[in-house]
Amino acid sequence: MEYRILLLGSGGREHTIAWKIAQSDKCSKLFIAPGNAGTSEVGTNVAMKADDFDAIRDFVLTNAIDMVVVGPEDPLVKGIYDYFKADAQLCNIPVIGPSKQGAVLEGSKDFAKGFMQRHNIPTARYQTFDGNHLQEGLAFLETLEPPYVLKADGLCAGKGVLIVPTLEEAKRELKDMLGGMFGQASARVVIEEFLSGIECSVFVLTDGKDYKLLPEAKDYKRIGEGDTGLNTGGMGSVSPVSFATKEWMQKVEQRIVRPTVEGLAAEGIDYKGFIFFGLINVDGEPKVIEYNCRMGDPETETVMLRLKSDLVDLFEGVATQTLASRTVEFDSRSAVCVMLVSGGYPEHYEKGFPIKMQNLQSSIFNLQYSIVFHAGTAVKDGQIVTNGGRVIAVSSYGANKDEALARSMKGAQEIEFEGKYYRRDIGQDLA
Ligand code: AMP
Ligand code: GLY
Repeated sequence: MEYRILLLGSGGREHTIAWKIAQSDKCSKLFIAPGNAGTSEVGTNVAMKADDFDAIRDFVLTNAIDMVVVGPEDPLVKGIYDYFKADAQLCNIPVIGPSKQGAVLEGSKDFAKGFMQRHNIPTARYQTFDGNHLQEGLAFLETLEPPYVLKADGLCAGKGVLIVPTLEEAKRELKDMLGGMFGQASARVVIEEFLSGIECSVFVLTDGKDYKLLPEAKDYKRIGEGDTGLNTGGMGSVSPVSFATKEWMQKVEQRIVRPTVEGLAAEGIDYKGFIFFGLINVDGEPKVIEYNCRMGDPETETVMLRLKSDLVDLFEGVATQTLASRTVEFDSRSAVCVMLVSGGYPEHYEKGFPIKMQNLQSSIFNLQYSIVFHAGTAVKDGQIVTNGGRVIAVSSYGANKDEALARSMKGAQEIEFEGKYYRRDIGQDLA
């Protein structure tokens, strides 16, 4: 079957997914809402918010959409899957993304930790406290070694995790968090043991019964080279990840992926979509730092380069619960993504600067070397301008990581906009 697809979201992840969908013979028409300047080159943008369910309903019915793919977590946590299921006219249109209950894996750190405990999935030791149990929380902190990890239970746009060096500071932060530092999101706080190791993002697509592993990736969260400075949405990514060997990935699959997919089914949680496992490698043993109910950004910008298989075919497998019969093939080349950001990001930055790209394109399908994915761009008076903190991702293939990085660096140099900044050390910490 050929699908008329609506993809929700507007970042680099969505441009990349749109690019991949547009290459499929199984897609006859692609809309992206709201999209960005890049997505409009591979599909049709629709001026509609990704969480305006009523507007999405009208659009889907008017435009005979027969598959909805959700990029960001927000619509999922708000229950877009359930909204479709509950509507007589929408209930047979597949939504690629979990139910509201499934999205709680990302939406509540306490739920995620409890889930891992119930299914014996390796993760850091923890306890959760609310405002009525401050004293117990302070006492639990005393049983841990520094540094201390405090996590707001709910979604805080990536800002809800504090890692503090001293017990005193940890106690102060716990009081502040429970006192409303992140509003309702920190009404409960997860305190956990600090794990030391390198992180790796592992992705699967699941239809609720079976799953397929996608290429793994590592992202670079800090603004500064050498992993220094403030956290960002992500400054680049690399796939494959050198320490994610076949043996390591087998441990991940046996101890983490399979128990998660089986655990969701056993708990009666409807989950048809991506699962993002944020893992840390502790002396060769994978442990879960967090779950997300969507793909990673900017991991998608390398993962999709290395996914040879037809993404819409896989989505069809998810929708019809026939994923087991589909094949997933990886490209053996390396992929590296370098993110170009606005000057000042992740703090204050300005938007609206014209972007000049020389030879780089964002709509090449038979990709050999480099491609540009738009993260935060818009078109103003016929000119592509900056429209966010993360602006453009340059993703490249290489025979190895260094070759891919060199190509992305060249691309990064060739793109010009006022205040442009990027890290030159993406992937350099890996073998
Ligand atoms: P999260 O939002 O849970 O992914 O946490 C944000 C970041 O904090 C992670 O990507 C890790 O770098 C770090 N982090 C979270 N939990 C731990 C932990 N238990 N030990 C060490 N680092 C952690
Ligand atoms: N790159 C991490 C994330 O998407 O949350």
